[in-house]
Amino acid sequence: MTTAAPESVETMDTSALEAAFDAAVAADERIEPRDWMPDAYRATLVRQMAQHAHSEIIGMQPEANWITRAPSLRRKAILMAKVQDEAGHGLYLYSAAETLGTSRDELLDKLHSGRQKYSSIFNYPTLTWADVGAIGWLVDGAAITNQVPLCRCSYGPYARAMVRVCKEESFHQRQGYELLLALSRGTEAQHAMAQDAVDRWWWPSLMMFGPPDDESAHSAQSMAWKIKRHSNDELRQRFVDICVPQAESLGLTLPDPALRWNEERGHHDFGPIDWDEFQQVLRGNGPCNDQRLDRRRKAHEDGAWVREAALAHAAKHSPEQGTTEHPEASA
Ligand SMILES: [Fe+2]
Ligand SMILES: [Fe+2]
Repeated sequence: MTTAAPESVETMDTSALEAAFDAAVAADERIEPRDWMPDAYRATLVRQMAQHAHSEIIGMQPEANWITRAPSLRRKAILMAKVQDEAGHGLYLYSAAETLGTSRDELLDKLHSGRQKYSSIFNYPTLTWADVGAIGWLVDGAAITNQVPLCRCSYGPYARAMVRVCKEESFHQRQGYELLLALSRGTEAQHAMAQDAVDRWWWPSLMMFGPPDDESAHSAQSMAWKIKRHSNDELRQRFVDICVPQAESLGLTLPDPALRWNEERGHHDFGPIDWDEFQQVLRGNGPCNDQRLDRRRKAHEDGAWVREAALAHAAKHSPEQGTTEHPEASA
């Protein structure tokens, strides 16, 4: 957003600031951290970016569960890279959220105390190796469908973080697809394992797009602010249409007897989603909710010494201590 010089912004009254903000959003300009923004816009972004960041780091757990049991060195290396990417996504997003004046400590505290959510999909267990493939193909695939439009989000730091995240997510989606393809073309038992994983992950993946449009609490306002560009149902439909031919090439079936091409709509029809299950998992009653949060809290406690050491190092090399340069800066 290119606003007037700061001195004139200071003297503008709220309605003029609001008009400038609305005009910038309407013109598809980016809102930057120092720009004036409505309190509700800031609060919505903090909530969404925090939830997104939390999902990235909690999402490391179900897959990390299989790193030590990956069937080959190649698969292990790919999976480790993927899980590390997710940690990186969390870091970009916490940093982007910090530009809105909220600290990382505060956000993590809200995650650990259950006051902020993460994506419910990560409350399902990874029972077999094929789940790693199903997560890559379906869960990362759904994430991409959601996140590509966020690259054009009105808030600059969030939009820019999404560009890199989406590039990495496409690698995740491909590795999952390739893993499932190998299993699907393998022995009968491997094929069955792949099919079972897809059967379990398909419906929760569709729930990742959130409740239907007429029940979605934040959708309309987020669309008006251009934080969101498409509705939940639109994105869900797009995802189903993408997955159907991919499932066919994989030689796997999607567990929905109502799934068929609708010539008139130019889209696939699909069966009803179990929103009761979604609400249950959201309320904390999913198969792994407690386990995920316990593990996260413990990881945070175990990492306390690293944070302390980093702070001590920073203090030692602060300008007041007489060292203005990082010791390695001149190396
Ligand atoms: Fe990610
Ligand atoms: Fe990912």
